[in-house]
Amino acid sequence: MSALFLSLEGIDGAGKSSHLDAIEALLRAQGRTVTRTREPGGTPLAEQLRDMILKQPMDPLTESLLVFAARRDHIVQVIEPALARGDVVLCDRFTDATFAYQGGGRGFDTQVLATLERWAQARPDEGARLLQPDLTLWFDLPPEVAAARLADARTPDKFEAQSADFFRRVASGYAKRAAADPSRFVLIDANRTREEVWTQVAQAFQKRGIGA
Ligand code: TMP
Repeated sequence: MSALFLSLEGIDGAGKSSHLDAIEALLRAQGRTVTRTREPGGTPLAEQLRDMILKQPMDPLTESLLVFAARRDHIVQVIEPALARGDVVLCDRFTDATFAYQGGGRGFDTQVLATLERWAQARPDEGARLLQPDLTLWFDLPPEVAAARLADARTPDKFEAQSADFFRRVASGYAKRAAADPSRFVLIDANRTREEVWTQVAQAFQKRGIGA
């Protein structure tokens, strides 16, 4: 079976993480080996960077450089080796989150992000084609609903503590990325019951012959 790179995206509180176990189980039931991971993070170095990114105030360029530094280590240490083995890489967030949070939310220059993306995701053996997920599930719901879901859940980190306006900009950052690569993105309406959301996820997989 050929390697597959899946990512999950959405604003904080969209509920994507609560479906990761079920997605992993579905893929394993099909006999796939799953490398489950997350960004920022996924390696000891990248997890240290995650801690700084989520806790410490910093300017948007510093934040973007650290996010891509973490990503580069993650790609080299975990993602590329897993894809080379033929695994399914199931990643909780990837570069679309950078365009959404740093580009949309923070208003940072997306041209600079695109340059960093080209550096970090270059695949020496495949010419100009960058490493990107094969499929991205984008869990979308109104920022107010997401904020209400997060309110009781836990102490907010640096991003979770942002305003509804910030998350509206994040959502529009995701929308731009989805518009630029529509065949990769599947929009999941996350403003539904858990079961209804799962049905959309399962249908997206079925449609692409994944876990069918
Ligand atoms: P998580 O809570 O879903 O694990 O994500 C961690 C936070 O980091 C989340 O608020 C989004 C943010 N983030 C960025 O700002 N830029 C990025 O490139 C990534 C991957 C995450």
